[in-house]
Amino acid sequence: MSRRQQSRNDSSIDSITESLKSLMATGLRYAGDLSGLTFLDETFLREHGPEQVLHHMLSTKSYILTTSTLVEKNQDAYNHPEMKSFVKVGQGQCGTVWALTGTTMVLKVPNDGKKDQLYNDYCQHAAVEEAFRSTFSVFRRHINLPSCQTWLGPHNELFWKDHAKFLPKGFQSTYGIVSTRIFPVPLPVCSAIVDACAPRSVKNNKESFLAQPENKDCLIRIYLGRRQERSSMNAFRLRNFDMTVNEMEYSRLDTHLYAESMGHALAIMHWKAGVDGNDVEFVFGSSPEIRLRPTAAELACLTADQAERLSSELDFKHRSLGIWLLDFDQCQRFEEGPQGVKQLERAFYFNDPYYPRPASKDPKDRVLWTTFKDSYLEASAEFTDSKMPQQFIDAVEAEGIKRSSGRSLFG
Ligand SMILES: Nc1ncnc2c1ncn2[C@@H]1O[C@H](COP(=O)(O)OP(=O)(O)O)[C@@H](O)[C@H]1O
Ligand SMILES: [Mg+2]
Repeated sequence: MSRRQQSRNDSSIDSITESLKSLMATGLRYAGDLSGLTFLDETFLREHGPEQVLHHMLSTKSYILTTSTLVEKNQDAYNHPEMKSFVKVGQGQCGTVWALTGTTMVLKVPNDGKKDQLYNDYCQHAAVEEAFRSTFSVFRRHINLPSCQTWLGPHNELFWKDHAKFLPKGFQSTYGIVSTRIFPVPLPVCSAIVDACAPRSVKNNKESFLAQPENKDCLIRIYLGRRQERSSMNAFRLRNFDMTVNEMEYSRLDTHLYAESMGHALAIMHWKAGVDGNDVEFVFGSSPEIRLRPTAAELACLTADQAERLSSELDFKHRSLGIWLLDFDQCQRFEEGPQGVKQLERAFYFNDPYYPRPASKDPKDRVLWTTFKDSYLEASAEFTDSKMPQQFIDAVEAEGIKRSSGRSLFG
């Protein structure tokens, strides 16, 4: 027996897993050298201020090693399945979203009377996901989508029997969408947001503020279309934190990369999926999986079962951050022609202010709009010969001028 075989047989799966974990971490660092990924660890966090932490973490290419109670809860539930439970992570006007701890699963169930709207969510999410999947990665590489999985009905006994024990007592089986979870941004990012953006009263009580349940599950909404001082806005909270373009600039975030990514994403929704993109959300969130495959040389040292255990491992401590696109319940198909152009323009302004504004008084916003517009038109030209993409842009610009001259009621 060769020495390699001997040592393979002698060592436990755990020690192999440990050494491979460290190889994978090295792999991530190495990938960073090649593709702009960085591996941010505790030393980095200790040595840098909040703006630098946000600048690096929200670059769409960062990795972090972190711990928090949420991370521990998920890791515990993963290691001890009896500790799993559904926790409410969000609620909108159509549905309520529950995440099953220790897994990547979320369940969105309809609010009262919203079953049909939820079904529309499922159909449009599937259409957008398929459109993204069949698009060249150059147009979608910075945008992630939750994977749209199962449509459930109240009589799906298999599902409800299996999952009732994880839901609150008395939870009625209902319709629902099973999809994958967008994990919150890690605690160091929440902490940096407080340092960089919160009013003094919140900063002074940072620890207790961060510990409040309503400040867990922090996804950051990317409001390129809102320039506003925070003091004039609503109560400060971290769940669905709405980061304004001026706050992004303050932390030197790459707003043009976000504008370009949103332009490409909207073009894919319009001209590849055929939906108007009404009321979708763009947020920063994270994902816990390390998907880097071990090298062929590493695989040669493992048995089939060891490799299986390693590659199915979920690690809630390593999280990659990125931009996520979600929430499709208001999306509709549209017709060719002027009615269709109007529908797309309405959807643009009906949405929360994710997209840059064409007629803002601030020249920085107008440059950002040009980045968005050029990216949108560039990607659209890959999918259609129609004049509608240009007509849509013209309609948004005309409406923008109207709004900025006559108002301040609308965004
Ligand atoms: N896949 C997901 N992972 C994590 N959180 C999610 C996910 N989907 C939705 N959420 C959270 O739940 C909130 C409500 O979900 P959403 O789909 O927007 O519902 P609605 O259609 O009612 O607006 C979102 O704003 C977001 O904070
Ligand atoms: Mg929503």
